[in-house]
Amino acid sequence: MKDRTASSSTTEKEIVGKAAANVIEDGMVVGLGTGSTTAYAIKELGRRVFEENLEILAVPTSYQSEMLSIEAGIPLTTLSQHPVLDIAIDGADQIDSDLNAVKGGGGAHTREKVVSMSANHFIVVVDESKISDRLDHYIPVEVLSYSRNLVCNQIKTLGGNPTTRMATRKDGPVITDNGNFIIDASFGVIEDPLSLSKELSGCTGVVEHGIFHNVSEVYIGKKDGSFEII
Ligand code: 5RP
Repeated sequence: MKDRTASSSTTEKEIVGKAAANVIEDGMVVGLGTGSTTAYAIKELGRRVFEENLEILAVPTSYQSEMLSIEAGIPLTTLSQHPVLDIAIDGADQIDSDLNAVKGGGGAHTREKVVSMSANHFIVVVDESKISDRLDHYIPVEVLSYSRNLVCNQIKTLGGNPTTRMATRKDGPVITDNGNFIIDASFGVIEDPLSLSKELSGCTGVVEHGIFHNVSEVYIGKKDGSFEII
């Protein structure tokens, strides 16, 4: 476990986003996640591409990260052209002490899982509020729209409480970048994340759920301006 200190004027998310971006080296192909913390990593990578002539290619995980990357001047590629990535950087909604993560607060976890599973190293960037001994965050589950009721029933059978994620104005469901719905499923404290992960993957109509077991390292931004790597 390493402790680092950054300027106190930067936010916890900014500290770790920048720190992860500074791990990236010339020639790397990088997966870029979605969310407010990863946005700092994307901005910092864009700065390095511009000011340090850093030569990288990136695979975005969403329209949001694609647009931010283009805006930042980061050259993009695809998993078809580069099926193996050196490093993926992404945020998370919760991380437990065994580095199991919950993702999908932004509804992008399907592509985020594909991209991070394609990477040799997966760095997760979070502020310290995301760290918990055990997972108890709701699990985002992307489903085919016409399987919504079927999946809700299967989640209830697994002991979960499913809610269809609605758009901010509540006049319709959230539609993912893949054209699907999201069901947020609460299970209380999750005693065995791996077993729940397998059960959710086994539900008919599920495209992908937000439990991740492939985190290599977590960069945790702290209120005092330091960060820690576990
Ligand atoms: C998107 C995600 C995000 O990485 C997660 O929701 C964390 O977001 P933020 O960095 O804004 O707190 O999984 O699907």
